[in-house]
Order: sequence, then structure tokens, then C-alpha cells
Amino acid sequence: MAPDKPFSQACENNKQPILDRIRNTFTAPGTILEIGTGTGQHAVHFASALPHLVWQPSDRPGATAHCRARIREAALDNLRLPVELDVASGIWPGDSIDGAYSANTAHIMAWEEVEAMFAGLAKRMRTGMPFCLYGPFSYGAKHTSDSNRQFDRHLRMQAPHMGIRDMDDLLKLAEQTGFRLESDHEMPANNRLLVWRKL
Ligand SMILES: C[S@@+](CC[C@H](N)C(=O)[O-])C[C@H]1O[C@@H](n2cnc3c(N)ncnc32)[C@H](O)[C@@H]1O
Repeated sequence: MAPDKPFSQACENNKQPILDRIRNTFTAPGTILEIGTGTGQHAVHFASALPHLVWQPSDRPGATAHCRARIREAALDNLRLPVELDVASGIWPGDSIDGAYSANTAHIMAWEEVEAMFAGLAKRMRTGMPFCLYGPFSYGAKHTSDSNRQFDRHLRMQAPHMGIRDMDDLLKLAEQTGFRLESDHEMPANNRLLVWRKL
């Protein structure tokens, strides 16, 4: 692995199943803001398969370097270099967006940051625009698998602000911020793809 190109095996495994879903959601040409891009493997895969989109990666200041070399190397016309975005900062990139995507971020962010992500997107998205959120989620405080229960425990031991988010809380947050859940897809490895629409 090149030191300037961090690699995630999980991303390699899930990028095609996610693409198979999001291609039915991100159908209109436009700019998609990715929050918490990480290694950039999703960004490169999706931008190359969905040339009608402009893919805008972002991550917290200090983390944008994790995807930069991979994105430069991909040299795709519709894939931009990452911009800095910490959803908690209140400082968002100025460009207008037509949709949003975020994977494996809600359980890493503190709940207040998840709130800030929805609220920040709500301010920048027009009615009908989609927000695809991928990751593990629980339902009625019940995990969907033993491995997710263990993962949740592991996260909370690592840092008490982290943890798998519950759909009841997300649905409440969506209602407060102006999103509705359009669909909830079962994905490999006990993950879900949630498609929210701006009201
Ligand atoms: C587990 S990684 C997921 C990376 C990638 N999306 C994936 O699926 O592999 C979590 C990502 O969320 C980002 N993140 C955490 N807190 C954030 C915040 N407050 N604002 C924006 N991104 C954040 C991290 O920097 C990291 O890139």
C-alpha cells in the first residue's frame, strides 16, 4: 500500500453493492457532496461509473489528505479534489449541491455531529434532493446482528461519543430537519443504505 493512498478492504468489498443502489437514486445530473470521504475508494468508483455526476469529496481538516493521492491518480473529469468539511464547524463549502452521500460516518461522529450533518444538508438542499447514508444502524434499540452489537460495544469503549445510531433517533432527526426516509435497503455485512429526501 502506498503510504499516501490509505486502503480499506471494507470499501473495496462494499463499493459495488453501494453503487448498484445509489445509481438508481442519483439519476439526475448534478453535484454530489460526499461527507467523510476517507480513503476516496468510493469517490473514485462512483465518479467513474456515474459520469453524469460531479463528485465532490470532503473530510475533516487533516483527513482530506487520505483521499487526495487516489483522486489525483484517477484523473477523472467529474471527480473534484477534496474540500475541508467538519460538519460540526458550521463552515460548509460554498458550492451548491444537488445531493449528498456519506458512508460509515454516523457511528463515528458524536450524535451532535450527526444532527449537524442533517441540519447543514437541509440548509443546502432543495426539495426532492437525495441524501444517501450508508452504514450499520439499529432498530428500536435492537442490533441487526451479533457482530453489530460487538462493533457498537467496541466503538463505545474506544470513545463514548461513538456508536451505532438507532433508526428511531434518525427518523426523529430527519423530521426535525426536513427530510423523509424514502427507502432503507439491506446491504451486505449487516449494513444498510438509507435514502433520505429533502422535504
Ligand atoms: C470510518 S471512516 C469512513 C470513511 C469512508 N466513508 C468509508 O466508508 O470507508 C469515518 C469518516 O468520517 C469522517 N468524520 C468524522 N467526523 C466527522 C465530522 N464531524 N465531519 C466530517 N467528517 C467526519 C472521518 O474523518 C472519516 O473520514
